[in-house]
Amino acid sequence: MKDFKKSCVYQIYPKSFYDKSGDGIGDLAGITEKLDYLKDLGIDYLWITPFFVSPQNDNGYDVADYRSIDPTYGTMEDFETLASEAKKRNIGIMLDMVFNHTSTEHEWFQKAMAGDPYYKDFYIFKKGKNGQPPTNWVSKFGGNAWQYVEKFDEYYLHLFDKTQADLNWENENVRKELVDILKFWMSKGVSGFRFDVINLISKPAVFEDDFSGDGRRFYTDGPRIHEFLKEMAQNSGLNSNGMITVGEMSSTTMEHCIRYSNPDEKELSMCFNFHHLKVDYKNQQKWELQDCDFMKLKSIFNTWQTGMQAGNGWNAVFWCNHDQPRIISRFGDDKNYPRESATMLATMIHLMRGTPYIYQGEEIGMTNAYFTDINQYRDVESLNYYQILKEEGKSEDEIYKILQERSRDNSRTPMQWNACEHAGFSTGTPWLSVNPNYQTINTEACLADPNSILYYYKKLVALRKEYDIIAYGDYVPVLEDNTSVFAYKRVYQNEKLLVLANFYGKETTVQLDGIFEDGYECLLTNYTKRALENEMTLQPYEAVVFYKSN
Ligand code: GLC
Repeated sequence: MKDFKKSCVYQIYPKSFYDKSGDGIGDLAGITEKLDYLKDLGIDYLWITPFFVSPQNDNGYDVADYRSIDPTYGTMEDFETLASEAKKRNIGIMLDMVFNHTSTEHEWFQKAMAGDPYYKDFYIFKKGKNGQPPTNWVSKFGGNAWQYVEKFDEYYLHLFDKTQADLNWENENVRKELVDILKFWMSKGVSGFRFDVINLISKPAVFEDDFSGDGRRFYTDGPRIHEFLKEMAQNSGLNSNGMITVGEMSSTTMEHCIRYSNPDEKELSMCFNFHHLKVDYKNQQKWELQDCDFMKLKSIFNTWQTGMQAGNGWNAVFWCNHDQPRIISRFGDDKNYPRESATMLATMIHLMRGTPYIYQGEEIGMTNAYFTDINQYRDVESLNYYQILKEEGKSEDEIYKILQERSRDNSRTPMQWNACEHAGFSTGTPWLSVNPNYQTINTEACLADPNSILYYYKKLVALRKEYDIIAYGDYVPVLEDNTSVFAYKRVYQNEKLLVLANFYGKETTVQLDGIFEDGYECLLTNYTKRALENEMTLQPYEAVVFYKSN
């Protein structure tokens, strides 16, 4: 069994990873085909986003059958081949369990709609109030979070799309069904799970309007959340079977994340939270742009790193996933300093306390899509917000500017394997346009260049294996008031590590008196190796790491 603290996870969005069948949509056989590439990168686990039967309104996060593979991704046999080939390479597979909601095409929902009371209680149906929905809560994808069903004269709750109906976790039979699904996949040899928006599953006893927000305060980290997670882990044997588990925590608090991930609580191995990815949201609103607030970013990281450590909790550390824009386009500079900014950002994350996650394409410096036509977008959230922003009176230009920065499709464009047609992703027409920069940004080009972003990631992944301090060391913030440099120390037994990262595209000088003593050597840098000195001028986006043992 692997130690998840010493591990690195690679996230695959199968639809966009590699298409073996040639229909323009990535598939499981495509992942198997690329296992050697992933092995070579050094990763330990693959988190694969949902490939179960689904109408694909939210690209698989709307599951219609948790035990079957959607034919667009292949067959159960393809999955079994993938799992056994991964195992040969000592790579574990983590599946993505969407347990807050099901697709409205799921058999349970269909039976509920047919009036079967047993299944109706699997969901959250409520009467409206004076011809209005039961509450004024807002769906995460825009609009009210309740959908009216005429034949019952009731509404069902959907925190996401109206085709994603929230499950009623108060119902013990729902919880039993979900545990059975976990057991089913564990018997197929998976090594772990990522739980989708798992901190939203416990809804309040009373449903009331939110007059100061969108409703999230009533159901985020809800009243029975810890009880539910403990029960799920216990009844499915997640911990006794050595599963690695990560919960996606939406708008959570540190206090809860400590409880979710402290081993004594027996809930999950670790949490994702997103506070550090809201520092460029104006007024906390995803669809309002602002530059990255670097001091806020620093303070969030420092607070969470030291706080989780004090509570013996554990976080996933990451910049990218299938819901986030590409980090190099977001906090880096994909035009003038692609290599420097990508490697600087990678250094910051990988050497923090937590398990690092790499999202497909991040390791080769893939950028935002910069689509210029709404017809290029596929994501339900982007399409909804295109309309909403229009209704708010924004001009087309403004809307495209926002989508080019915020759309989830930015990270979903096909993986760029080589400079051939469709970036070598597929022989068919890709379901989402390939980024035209595939001619220069692709894995083949990276593999041929010893100085590439890819090899730098490989080094970071390898360092975690070699140096215990990266996995187990304490985190100590350094240069907290510096407005350009992100810096921290790690301390473990007789070892020390110092990380300096210039977050900006211009030189900056830092004073390090009192921060270090003799004996440090340069372990890693995205420029050229250098000595640690009291005063150092860092190059644009320079990252430099020093290490000392005794
Ligand atoms: C999570 C997923 C996202 C999905 C949503 C609803 O946030 O990462 O892609 O749309 O949950 O399942």
